[in-house]
Amino acid sequence: MSEILPEDSTAQDILPLKVTDEGSKRRNWGILLTGVIGGTLMVLYSVTTPFIAPALRKHCLPFVPATSKQIENVLNILKGRNGSLVDIGSGDGRIVIAAAKVGFKAVGYELNPWLVWYSRYRAWREGVHQDARFYISDLWKVSFAQYTNVVIFGVPQMMLPLEKKLGEELQIDARVVACRFPFPHWSPTCSFGEGIDTVWAYDSDSFKMKKENDTVKSKCILSHQLKF
Ligand SMILES: C[S@@+](CC[C@H](N)C(=O)[O-])C[C@H]1O[C@@H](n2cnc3c(N)ncnc32)[C@H](O)[C@@H]1O
Repeated sequence: MSEILPEDSTAQDILPLKVTDEGSKRRNWGILLTGVIGGTLMVLYSVTTPFIAPALRKHCLPFVPATSKQIENVLNILKGRNGSLVDIGSGDGRIVIAAAKVGFKAVGYELNPWLVWYSRYRAWREGVHQDARFYISDLWKVSFAQYTNVVIFGVPQMMLPLEKKLGEELQIDARVVACRFPFPHWSPTCSFGEGIDTVWAYDSDSFKMKKENDTVKSKCILSHQLKF
């Protein structure tokens, strides 16, 4: 039954033109669709993973931005102080940027690269990029020894190991400010604010785990709002 074709004939000569055109069009659409779906999934994966990853680590610390009141309380409890400031797990950079605006040389360490890039953009847009720096780093691998003002908005599970780490690293003129969750063993110099916006300040006598002989104690200057 098979028809013998002339020697120089091709598939084009025997298949109807319409069929081959439609076939290749469908193939092209298929490739395009696969590319679009694949690309979208890759973008989704690379954007969402850095936000989910912190929750899967040993110390689960998700991105929860500080409230405006909380930031105000941090700046209040640091009133009268200056120099360097670090926000441990700086999120979208709001504490670092607010601190830079009132004169601190502020730095943020953050695991999520998207948040770090966004923070840098915000600092640039708000004109404080010289005094607000951001680094993509794991807080457990960075030494905070050089900072005299340390801010942490953490979670209860991490406060004990962080207490130990900071106790070993910080200098006697350092002040640590904990937002929302206090340190378990340190006794605060003072606290400020209410409810979820409460912040606690800790001075060198809280770090005496390692520095037994230190006697320096800086007081909070918010005497009318001290809470004990
Ligand atoms: C509760 S949020 C606080 C954000 C910011 N400090 C604020 O107050 O707006 C904690 C941040 O720490 C980051 N983080 C979690 N684990 C981290 C780690 N191991 N090293 C550095 N940053 C981390 C999270 O991505 C998140 O942005």
